[in-house]
Amino acid sequence: MNEQQFRRHRRLRRTASMRKIVRETYLHKEDFIYPIFVKEGTNIKNEVPSMPGVYQWSLDRLEDEVNDVVRLGIESIILFGVPAEKDEVGSSAYDHNGIVQQATRQIKEKHPELTVIADTCLCQFTDHGHCGVVHDGEIINDESLSLLAKTAVSQAEAGADIIAPSNMMDGFVAAIRQGLDEAGFENIPIMSYAVKYASAFYGPFRDAAHSSPKSGDRKTYQMDPANRLEALREAQSDVDEGADFLIVKPALSYLDIIRDVKERHPYPIVAYNVSGEYSMIKGAAQNGWINEKEVVLEKLTSMKRAGADLILTYFAKDVAKWLEEK
Ligand code: PBG
Repeated sequence: MNEQQFRRHRRLRRTASMRKIVRETYLHKEDFIYPIFVKEGTNIKNEVPSMPGVYQWSLDRLEDEVNDVVRLGIESIILFGVPAEKDEVGSSAYDHNGIVQQATRQIKEKHPELTVIADTCLCQFTDHGHCGVVHDGEIINDESLSLLAKTAVSQAEAGADIIAPSNMMDGFVAAIRQGLDEAGFENIPIMSYAVKYASAFYGPFRDAAHSSPKSGDRKTYQMDPANRLEALREAQSDVDEGADFLIVKPALSYLDIIRDVKERHPYPIVAYNVSGEYSMIKGAAQNGWINEKEVVLEKLTSMKRAGADLILTYFAKDVAKWLEEK
């Protein structure tokens, strides 16, 4: 056989240098958003049992974690609050002195250059654990919107650079955009959880954030994992309502959706590499069954290859270290 009959693809894989120059996808530390759990109380650095290497931090100890992030060259973090008190309407989500608001002020004071993203949801703050207001077991859409807008405004007042609403109520981007604009925060972007599936991969996060619903599930507001067209409708309405970034969540089982959204919308696309995806790798690595570093780099690269511009991941610090080593 000769060149006429088949093509020699292996030519471009012959040396390490050759492989590098034809490589299509690279990871940069600027691609990563690192999640931090901030918990009310003092002297807390609790490792989340189902997420080895991930901690809940009280404000007096948070500085260590933030310094680490900054030193590693990560540009952005997202804050999840774990409040001391919960009630029916999630008041501590929009309290001026809520845990996320306090953490944001504290971080921005010391690190004004770090981009601080506030997750905007009610589920960690409500006693029933749902992402909206509940009456007779039903999650009430429109009543929830004003509370979400209030939460976003109080987070912006505290200094949040980006608002990231994750609640999946219909119209939340429009309501939050209007709330921010009316309060004079027209320059604060919305990173919308545009496509968020009702996923079993959120299990470890709910341990970390104490946010499991007390009864029922989230299937009347989060999406059915079987649906693709619905994802396109969800993304479209968030774009129409004024979202600046679009999140697809989870990431790994939804690479097709990341690609679909990227192809249709000229906005930064964010893949959320969720807690369960993190814990699976950690668990297997702790058993010595896989090579953690190689698996993580492969997996995050596949998210970028699928079309993600940014990746929200609990591995952000590890990856930043590995990229430095290279
Ligand atoms: C809150 C929220 C959740 C996650 C991010 N924001 C949990 C949920 O919807 O139940 C999950 C993140 C993860 O699993 O890493 N609505």
